[in-house]
Amino acid sequence: MIIGIPAEIHSGEKRVAASPDMVAKLVAAGFEVIVESGAGTGANFSDDMFRDAGAAVAKDAGGAWSTDLILKVRPPEFNKELDRHEIDLMSNGAHFISFVWPAQNEDLLKKFTAKKATVLAMDSIPRISRAQKLDALSSMANIAGYRAVLEASHYFGRFFSGQITAAGKVDPAKVMVIGAGVAGLAAIGTAKSLGAIVRAFDTRPEVKDQIQSMDAEFLELEFEEDGTGEGGYAKVMSKEFIEAEMALFARQASEVDVIITTALIPGKPAPKLITREMVESMRDGGVIVDLAAEQGGNCEATKPGKVVNRYGVNIVGYTDLPSRMAAQSSQLYATNIYNLIMEMCQQKDGDIVVDMEDVVIRGATVVNQGEISWPPPPIAVGAERKPSFGGQEIKPEVEEVKVPEVAAKPSEISRFFKSVWFPMILAGLALFGLGQVAPPSFMSHFTVFVLSCFIGYMVIWNVSPSLHTPLMSVTNAISSIIILGALTQISSEVNLIYILSGIAAFITSINIVGGFSVTQRMLQMFRG
Ligand code: NAI
Repeated sequence: MIIGIPAEIHSGEKRVAASPDMVAKLVAAGFEVIVESGAGTGANFSDDMFRDAGAAVAKDAGGAWSTDLILKVRPPEFNKELDRHEIDLMSNGAHFISFVWPAQNEDLLKKFTAKKATVLAMDSIPRISRAQKLDALSSMANIAGYRAVLEASHYFGRFFSGQITAAGKVDPAKVMVIGAGVAGLAAIGTAKSLGAIVRAFDTRPEVKDQIQSMDAEFLELEFEEDGTGEGGYAKVMSKEFIEAEMALFARQASEVDVIITTALIPGKPAPKLITREMVESMRDGGVIVDLAAEQGGNCEATKPGKVVNRYGVNIVGYTDLPSRMAAQSSQLYATNIYNLIMEMCQQKDGDIVVDMEDVVIRGATVVNQGEISWPPPPIAVGAERKPSFGGQEIKPEVEEVKVPEVAAKPSEISRFFKSVWFPMILAGLALFGLGQVAPPSFMSHFTVFVLSCFIGYMVIWNVSPSLHTPLMSVTNAISSIIILGALTQISSEVNLIYILSGIAAFITSINIVGGFSVTQRMLQMFRG
């Protein structure tokens, strides 16, 4: 099978669907690859790099389009230079893979059917664990979150980290991230690594731990409503909740220097969370990066694709953040596409089989041999995530479950059973019962054991989640109890016991020294 990699013609698009590494792997798997000359220029991949990887380089688009399997980043569009639509350059019955956004591009799907094509959309790959390595939406959102912080720091024009210099003290920048999905978490990590103070908010309470483990502050909202929706995505929040979170953002806006917003519910317009008044309340020189710009923006003043200055605050509404890091995004996108191709080429024989029984391939296939096969049937497994980027309408796979907003008031008795007193009274009774039958020596050991469990639990409970890994390594070192046995036996007269104790002491000392030194290194990372 011959794979074609045309250059992207969408204005400003610098990414390419293949990297030289990926081409080399495809060639090793038995495929022939043709790359259009200059296709990789925007991503710093020269024609020679592709040639060295084993590809042939075609002079023009026609060479790459007239192949058996075409790989692209953007959906096909009208090529003004050739005065033809890109799909018209395809051979009949060819395969095609790119972002397609089928819900928005019905006409495109029809055009593909006329070519009897088979089309796999990278944006329609089901977000299940097995398909993580194919998840190009997450790869791109990760890059967008990272780049958003770099754009913010560029427009902010000041340090993100605090410094004490001969010329005076510089306070660290304060960054607020709204929405801690893939892009939001990447933004939190990047802003933290630049030394900023980071606060973040999300409607899904389960992300609190993730935010805190990145050493950022989770902004708490005194409002009982869980934002967790279907398949791990957020659900549309009540009007009251949105008002409460906007009041929180209004308080934060006057305090923070940078706001990065990524809030989105798949298939819905982005919620408006930052008002003009909030922008006005920010300090001069502040920056807002609105990642949801393409879906209408989280900020009222965002202009999609543009940077505008309002009340002294720069509002960045770029919709092409991954393309602004074309080398990185092309490499990750190419790896995602390669993994998809290899899912369909288990035999590594240079050919693909589009297996419509495979849930991942089925989900991604939007046109199958000229027949529109989108939307796919619902996936039965519970924890699926649906594609979110591009603002496309996606019908829910499962009927939304209506949860009453205010839960029925629990009775006094059920409240008692759920309270902390119930297990404590139960444990006390069990201990008393045991005391009646067990020998006194057992009871004293047992009481020490129970108290140790309690103290251990209380100590670990209060450790910040970001320190759990170093804590585990130090626990590992301390738990090398074998050394105590070895020390009591090492002065034995019996040679065998003496040697075995020596070996035991030596081996456990490796564990102890190793545990402490690993902890030390991890703690250094936090200090650095
Ligand atoms: P995601 O679905 O993983 O994350 C969105 C997060 O927003 C979720 O954690 C959700 O709980 C949260 N959220 C929803 N409503 C909220 C509300 N009212 N308040 C606070 N949080 C709320 O999506 P992902 O992949 O992280 O993408 C985030 C955004 O970035 C999307 O708008 C996506 O289209 C955009 N994006 C933009 C790019 C660009 O170049 N500008 C490139 C890639 C993604």
